[in-house]
Amino acid sequence: MVHCRRLRTRPPREGAGRVSGEAVAAHRRSLADREAFWLEAATAVEWRTPPTRALDDSAAPFYRWFPDATLNTCFNAVDRHVRDGHGDRVAIAYESPVTSASAEVTYAELLDLVATCAGALEALGVGHGDTVLIYMPMVPEAVVSMLACARIGAVHSVVFGGFAANELAARIDDARPAVVLSASCGIEPTRVVDYKPMLDQAVEQSASPPRHCVVLQRDASRASLVDDRDLDWDDFMALGTDRPAACAELASSDPLYILYTSGTTARPKGVVRDNGGHAVAMTWSMRHVFDIGPGDTMWAASDIGWVVGHSYIIYGPLLTGATTVLYEGKPVGTPDAAQLWRVAAARGVKALFTAPTALRAVRKEDPHGQLVGDHDLSALETLFLAGERLDPATFLWAGEALGVPVVDNWWQTETGWPIAANLRGLEPSEIKPGSPSRPVPGYDVRILDPDGHEVAPGVEGAICIRLPLPPGCLQTVWGDDERYLSSYLTDFPGHYLTGDGGYVDEDGYLFVMGRTDDVINVAGHRLSTGALEACLSRHPMVAESAVVGVADDLKGQVPRGFVIVKAGAEVDDDVLRAELVDLVRDEVGAVASLRDVTVVHALPKTRSGKILRKVLRDMSDGKAVETPPTIEDVAVLDKLRDRLGRP
Ligand code: COA
Ligand code: AMP
Repeated sequence: MVHCRRLRTRPPREGAGRVSGEAVAAHRRSLADREAFWLEAATAVEWRTPPTRALDDSAAPFYRWFPDATLNTCFNAVDRHVRDGHGDRVAIAYESPVTSASAEVTYAELLDLVATCAGALEALGVGHGDTVLIYMPMVPEAVVSMLACARIGAVHSVVFGGFAANELAARIDDARPAVVLSASCGIEPTRVVDYKPMLDQAVEQSASPPRHCVVLQRDASRASLVDDRDLDWDDFMALGTDRPAACAELASSDPLYILYTSGTTARPKGVVRDNGGHAVAMTWSMRHVFDIGPGDTMWAASDIGWVVGHSYIIYGPLLTGATTVLYEGKPVGTPDAAQLWRVAAARGVKALFTAPTALRAVRKEDPHGQLVGDHDLSALETLFLAGERLDPATFLWAGEALGVPVVDNWWQTETGWPIAANLRGLEPSEIKPGSPSRPVPGYDVRILDPDGHEVAPGVEGAICIRLPLPPGCLQTVWGDDERYLSSYLTDFPGHYLTGDGGYVDEDGYLFVMGRTDDVINVAGHRLSTGALEACLSRHPMVAESAVVGVADDLKGQVPRGFVIVKAGAEVDDDVLRAELVDLVRDEVGAVASLRDVTVVHALPKTRSGKILRKVLRDMSDGKAVETPPTIEDVAVLDKLRDRLGRP
């Protein structure tokens, strides 16, 4: 047991009262001379044809970064480091408390695996521009699969393992993958999650089924394979053994991946990321936001199914030549609340990145942070938190427990890297609790009122980003340019709508107050209330439903459903409730965490028929609810108050 230091002090307030001049200058330069700023940043990437221009705005608002350049992202993330003599450096440190595995993959080993996997994909007929869906737990093979796609110019789309068949089918239908790479199961702390039956069901349901499914068989539960369609992972890899694939030369604007995210409707949006802009944004942010360089170790304790996983488990660290920790486990329960500190100490982690909810879970079990002191965290320099609002209590607890700066950073799947953060690779600014600090270079953040006018400091509004977005942000919505325009660029012409509301203070610090749409955030997982409502409404007894996110001490928000039963339907409320909870779990997935459904006689609506979700949310949160002037029927509100036992 190592008692390395006593850390029961206030979190460091370095830079207190100060806004970093370096950060301000970098931000100003990134907007005033976009070309010079990003062409300079682009020198961190190795191109086949280096860019002579940064931004092509000829088809605005469809912008293209580094339009005359070519490169290969996999080459930059893997081959380049081996060529430069770093083949023995650990690329992936795999820690899997749920299987008791702990392993290392060096850059040289990663190169072999990725080239072989890419060759195997080619043997199955996958080529440049084809899509490949990856539905895998946190195993090294998932990283290999993603990089193999990047190597040959195939477009990967990773689906989070917590989503079940229906959500998977929706993504298969939209991405139309030639091949699905999957595993027999994922391992959660209390149960084994069989992926294959969900994959089979999704493929059966799909209008565009893949030609092949490749299945990594895991000891915890082996899957049966479908003749002529399915291949065992080892047999698949054998296809590439004698024909490892070379890196394809790709245009900077060629898509690298699609990542589906929840919007306000039931249909997920496929965020498209390019190769060149993404590589530049990743390398720039690793150095300047996260202060991670070659040989450093970063641990983003997230999941490859989310954007944090794409950017800061995989591409960011590997493009930088750093070591990334790939963690298959939870912050608590695998086996205990010391796990974050245990792994960080064992792996000499310099930057730890997780979601506030993970720390709330740890804090619940170790309120005084006593478990921290048992581990040598001398390598740890910064704790980064994102994915949901960082509540001041968690911020203070983490700072006091760890004694390192706690850096909130705000961004989203669409942007791919932080919009606002304290830049740790430059002279640091003051950290203000409740704020992810100031906008990051490249992002021209504006707070707008409903008429599109900028508001004064301290006044809340819609957080928007003036176009163009910097490199690395979404190019469009997969297969649906119209949806890209209507979802993000139409409400405030010339601006990208983030969907979050908030304000900026006198020092230019941003305060993010939450979503202004119907997206909810459950344990750092972004979910669509629309998708949950669509699922509830599929129950034969349900006439109408509404889902809202209600406050939860651990998960930030949890969904709560309200349903109206069809006229004449005879059903016991408790039975219906249980059926609906199961339905959502089976169709959307366990990650939805829908446990609470209330049967009501009517839903509060405006005169134009819109459900007054805020009323449902506030009432569920126990807040006093004024009668909205737009309500169609005041009696519905009174009945709801009675039903929920609210004054
Ligand atoms: N595959 C299959 N099932 C999954 C899954 C996956 N990859 N991830 C979660 N689930 C399941 C869980 O087992 C759980 O099932 P249960 O209802 O049978 O218990 C359900 O989905 C809900 O999961 P979750 O919301 O994660 O709750 P939890 O109680 O299992 O864990 C936390 C709570 C806080 C520990 C966990 O949510 C966490 O670590 N969050 C960090 C979030 C994060 O990294 N976000 C990414 C942005 S940085
Ligand atoms: P996702 O696309 O899954 O990364 O979710 C993005 C959304 O999560 C944002 O639009 C915010 O609503 C929320 N979010 C992410 N990071 C933060 C943060 N640091 N502070 C507040 N909200 C955040």
